[in-house]
Amino acid sequence: MVPVIVGSGLAGLSLALALAPRPVLVVTTQGPGQTTSSVLAQGGLAAALGTDDSPAQHANDTLRAGAGLCDPEAVARFTRLGPRVVQTLESWGARFDRDSYGQHVLSLEGAHSVRRVAHVRGDSTGAALTEALVHRAAATPSVRFLTGARAVAIRTEGEHVTGLDVLHEGRRQRLGTDTVILATGGAGALWESTTNPAGSWGAGLALAAGVGAVLRNLEFMQFHPTALAVPRRAERPLISEALRGEGAFLVNNLGEAFMADVPGRDLAPRDVVASAIHRQIHSGRRVALDARGLTDFAQRFPTVARLCAEEGLDPARDLLPVEPTAHYHMGGIEVDGAGRTSVPGLWACGEVACTGLHGANRLASNSLLEAVAMGLLAADALSESGNAPSAPWPVEDSATEAPAPESTVPDDPTSLPDPAPLQAIMTRHVGLVRSESGLREAIRLLQPLAIQDPRAQVGLLIATAALARRESRGAHIREDAPV
Ligand code: SIN
Repeated sequence: MVPVIVGSGLAGLSLALALAPRPVLVVTTQGPGQTTSSVLAQGGLAAALGTDDSPAQHANDTLRAGAGLCDPEAVARFTRLGPRVVQTLESWGARFDRDSYGQHVLSLEGAHSVRRVAHVRGDSTGAALTEALVHRAAATPSVRFLTGARAVAIRTEGEHVTGLDVLHEGRRQRLGTDTVILATGGAGALWESTTNPAGSWGAGLALAAGVGAVLRNLEFMQFHPTALAVPRRAERPLISEALRGEGAFLVNNLGEAFMADVPGRDLAPRDVVASAIHRQIHSGRRVALDARGLTDFAQRFPTVARLCAEEGLDPARDLLPVEPTAHYHMGGIEVDGAGRTSVPGLWACGEVACTGLHGANRLASNSLLEAVAMGLLAADALSESGNAPSAPWPVEDSATEAPAPESTVPDDPTSLPDPAPLQAIMTRHVGLVRSESGLREAIRLLQPLAIQDPRAQVGLLIATAALARRESRGAHIREDAPV
């Protein structure tokens, strides 16, 4: 049967393209690549491409950043795949930045021991890669999109997946398939301040939990240290770590370069930088990034330059106010090395999945690597196991089918309550620094909201996992259990 992919960011698109010529249907709410986190990714894609680098060194850095919770086999698998991922993306039309000798231009980001982050159009990597893959998919007859469709429930019979219910053109439809791949992105929109689009509230987690899939490491939400601290937008503009890789540094309003004494300084792992900023802000100081020494700023960082200009800031002249912001969910649906979940027929790729690569703290720019590599790995496994599709496109009307399962994600998203109270609870009690009493309070407050709101159910799962982890590790910082 034809596999159905939910989500059209880099993970979903990579899988769809890697499966070609096997037919695949991609369910997308806004259109291919639209309103995904992938489009917003700036820094790039980590891969051992430099002559001073190797997959083993990339693996070591990933393991060190992951604070003891990475799966070493997964780390070895993904870091080995880095160069193949870049090659594959280039074969699909992506044009990674190269120097005049034809070598990839590589940036440095936090906790990487060498320059390893490949990018496309400077800091517009996510947008440029997505554009290339959308273009390629449009020219690939085996990839079909169901646009304007929202996945509302996965169907199972016995233990196995038998279909996906979607809301499309005002009607609930059943897509009959034995293979559903969730590539729905992260959950940052559960917090008040996030770099994620509003749709990234964990819908894939809710869909998977609805059929009893095992979820793992949900407490680990990475807070990016340097989002632009401006109040006006739903998505906080990101100031890429690559700026610090080129020499920008953090200062407080007393003019102190407060990272100077911290091991790794401004390029320490994200959890270290984010908590140092948090301590400054908590003691009443303001924090900014000083990028005034960076030359050719608009050419090298066109996205950050544009975001700053929209806020009336000039990086050549102004300090850029920053604060930690919910950014990347390291936990997710537990998957094996090819993306299979614990429910037969249900797969997951990209941020919604937990592969074991990131552990407790993702190494910068490993997420685009993981998203594309998972697409390739899942495609290999599906191609090995897959029979030729019996019917080309699996759209059927649910009226002719077995009774519909209860929606895990609401049929009418406009019927959902205002997310502000939920986001306030997550921000106050399940934020960068947590405590047992705060987490208990979050659970108490989330329980009544979760009766009606699947977003609050996901928040409740995260808060419960955070309560259970009585230690500080990576991105999960417990002030009542400092080590
Ligand atoms: C950044 O450019 O700092 C973000 C990249 C990432 O989150 O890996």
